[in-house]
Amino acid sequence: MAHMDTYDAIVTKLDVREFAGKGVDERTKTKILQAARFTGSSMNTQHWRFILVQDKTRLATLARDSTTGSWVEGADFAVIISTDPKVPGSNIDGGRVLQDMQLAAWNFGVASRPFTGFKEPEVRRDFGIPPELKPTVVLGFGYPARRLVGKKNRKPLAELVFLERYGNPYQPVE
Ligand SMILES: Cc1cc2nc3c(=O)[nH]c(=O)nc-3n(C[C@H](O)[C@H](O)[C@H](O)COP(=O)(O)O)c2cc1C
Repeated sequence: MAHMDTYDAIVTKLDVREFAGKGVDERTKTKILQAARFTGSSMNTQHWRFILVQDKTRLATLARDSTTGSWVEGADFAVIISTDPKVPGSNIDGGRVLQDMQLAAWNFGVASRPFTGFKEPEVRRDFGIPPELKPTVVLGFGYPARRLVGKKNRKPLAELVFLERYGNPYQPVE
């Protein structure tokens, strides 16, 4: 199993929506879910719950319930992340757990992509999500269909970072 430096994993990860047919083994799936479990949450509430979706017909249902994630039908598996909106910072928690799962997956060469575009009532109904939780984001996973050579389209650091006060230029070290 390939292992990657954390920084390299962050820099090289692309959000992929075309997956190869090769299945991800159960041990790797469990590791990705363990990464979710080990993520820190607001006041350690661990309010998140995860639904592992891997049956092809269930993935098709998830695709049908989506508006911008129909590609999930071609994923090897997906995880629906639900969080408790009453917990302060629940959105940040959702983002952290999402990214930890993506990075843990990429550590093993498994690509992924999140989507938030879904019909919430349909997702709730089809996946039995209780009313106190909110389906926040869905992650589709699988081995990438092709070698990832894509370059990230990102703004330069100088446009994003200020020194001491908003607007003061920051000179990144090359
Ligand atoms: C909160 C969030 C919601 C997203 N929702 C969708 C979505 O609904 N559908 C989709 O195809 N991609 C979605 N994405 C993926 C983004 O489009 C992707 O992160 C961005 O284009 C950067 O991709 P890259 O890292 O491969 O360059 C979402 C990403 C985030 C972080």
